[in-house]
Amino acid sequence: MQDLNKLWKIFKDKFTDTGLAKGAFSAPGRVNLIGEHTDYNDGFVLPMAIEKEIVMLGQSRNDRLVQVYDLVYKTKIEFSLDNLIPLKKDTWANYLMGVMDEMQKAGYSLQGANLIFISNIPKGAGLSSSAALEVVTALTMAKLNLLEIEPVEMAHLCRRAENNFVGVACGIMDQYVSCLGQKKYALFIDCRSNDYELIPFKNHDYQIVICNSKIQRGLINSEYNKRREQCKKATEFFAHKLGHKIQALRDITIDEYKKYQAQLPEIIARRARHVISENYRVQAGIQALREENYSAFGQLMIESHQSLKDDYEVSCTELDLLVDLALKQEGVLGARMTGAGFGGCTVNLIEKNYISAFKKSIINEYKKITGIIPDIYVTPPVEGAKVLELR
Ligand code: GLA
Repeated sequence: MQDLNKLWKIFKDKFTDTGLAKGAFSAPGRVNLIGEHTDYNDGFVLPMAIEKEIVMLGQSRNDRLVQVYDLVYKTKIEFSLDNLIPLKKDTWANYLMGVMDEMQKAGYSLQGANLIFISNIPKGAGLSSSAALEVVTALTMAKLNLLEIEPVEMAHLCRRAENNFVGVACGIMDQYVSCLGQKKYALFIDCRSNDYELIPFKNHDYQIVICNSKIQRGLINSEYNKRREQCKKATEFFAHKLGHKIQALRDITIDEYKKYQAQLPEIIARRARHVISENYRVQAGIQALREENYSAFGQLMIESHQSLKDDYEVSCTELDLLVDLALKQEGVLGARMTGAGFGGCTVNLIEKNYISAFKKSIINEYKKITGIIPDIYVTPPVEGAKVLELR
């Protein structure tokens, strides 16, 4: 949690008071417990919002100008709401501009604003700092302009900003959970209907622990798009075999997959197998959490990682190492890579009493092999985007 008084002091240093509405807002990052690379296949995901967040302070202006000071990189940029064009330098600003662009396109009328923001979500670590920045921008601009935007609409708007303005073809998961997360709950999302359900995660004996490999996700855009293409090919194949009820890999059962998989190119068959089996794992996972069967949930996490590693091929040596090391520790029920892959973090389910031993051992072992000291975060599920203060 940030010290708001300190942030307001910085705000006063950077900007002249316009006398208009001001406020402070936050949006969290996320970790996905299970359901990876399923969201853009109309499938199921089960993320939770984490204690790392972006805090934004803002005040309305009387004109169409937006001035933003980024406290992480200590850079200030300025743009007009009438001229929103993606930047080539200071590309972080594209997340803010994209959100404002989509808000205006959706018919919301905006005034300019002075903004500062600070983040403790590691960048490029697969914990959705981009989605958090989009969501906190949307919330700030909505509140400063006295607009009521429902969280689901806000999530879609933010995703469109990332797809259309930033140019990343992400699914809906990250923005959704950053808007709708709740304390003590993971968020089950049906990425076709957009229905969601809060799944209790409040057993005090177990905890989610995130290990940051510190490997920045390389190749991510091109490989992500390649996977999307391969899923599309698989879907077209099954639609051809099974008719037009097949609109996404979500619509294929394991039995249907088994019946036809030999006719698919080997690599496409493996990609499809990951997505189809992962959707089953999410559903089984929800059931396990409802029954407080944490060891069953942990087992599904382990299977998910295998599938991401071998079939979907989005893991990397360091993530596999973190998972292997984790599974050798006492008290660890499950471990898997989380997020898009090719670096970033693993998510682990651990019995609380073993967490400090786990941390020590993972740091030692991982450092011994890779020379890198991993960061480890212990976090409960927290609330999604919120108003911290209105002045
Ligand atoms: C990234 C995307 C999400 C999702 C995951 C993989 O985080 O932003 O929409 O596709 O990868 O599960």
